[in-house]
Amino acid sequence: MMIDLSAYQRIVVLTGAGVSAASGLRTYRGPDGLWKDEEVRRAAMVETLWTEPALTWRLFGARRMPVRTVQPNAAHEALVRMEESMRADQQFLLITQNVDGLHQRAGSRKVLELHGNVTFTRCMSNSCELAPFEDGDDHSDEVPRCPKCGSVLRPDVVMFGEYLPVDTLRQSTQALRVCDLFIAIGTSGIVAPASQFVELAEVAGARTIYLNLEPMEPPNPAFHEEHLGRAEELLPRLCGMGA
Ligand code: OAD
Repeated sequence: MMIDLSAYQRIVVLTGAGVSAASGLRTYRGPDGLWKDEEVRRAAMVETLWTEPALTWRLFGARRMPVRTVQPNAAHEALVRMEESMRADQQFLLITQNVDGLHQRAGSRKVLELHGNVTFTRCMSNSCELAPFEDGDDHSDEVPRCPKCGSVLRPDVVMFGEYLPVDTLRQSTQALRVCDLFIAIGTSGIVAPASQFVELAEVAGARTIYLNLEPMEPPNPAFHEEHLGRAEELLPRLCGMGA
């Protein structure tokens, strides 16, 4: 199967952990998923950040090293080429649920990070003016404090129980409401609100495609097509870019 991208004006792609699997990063669900471990799930809850930030840092600090040492794969690269192939009258937006920054490292330019980026740190206080910053430290020894206001510093990722970054969400829904092609790749499609993006695209009249290793369970009827396989193989083929 191939998609003629030139036939569309406004393309939105949503990616999930499956896109980074070939780079060697673990997904969240499934047999080897990060969330298999109860303690890890607890560490990712917003209540833990409030009461035991050291535990939050143990989980997310430890993810920094693998994220930094792996390389983008053929799926990331295919998405870069997709963006580069756009004509002036076409729009392309990549929305990712991934927190690994691999799309940007591969060279994607228009990327919205819906769930944050694990390599960045920010202040817990929403009124503090400290900007999120790239941080090489895993903070396994001590919970860091904000140099401006003294509050606890936190990883710049969305925890369970937290609202998504408001501007990012707004930009995503604006693009979805007018898109004519929507492709979701490597996501189990069960975590809201990203799991509902396909509905906005369908209402807009877009062609909606689900690409994943496994079928979506339960299947969302708003997807018109489902293609099963590995993102790093499917994506280059889909866009007519080699094998
Ligand atoms: P999941 O772990 O829920 O789903 C990953 C999907 O990728 C699964 O359906 C796999 O079958 C599929 N998959 C695995 N390897 C693949 C490959 N090589 N090619 C294509 N597909 C492959 O991850 P997400 O859907 O991204 O949120 O999870 C969504 C959110 O839930 C995450 O962003 C995270 C998590 O809680 C936060 O941390 C806020």
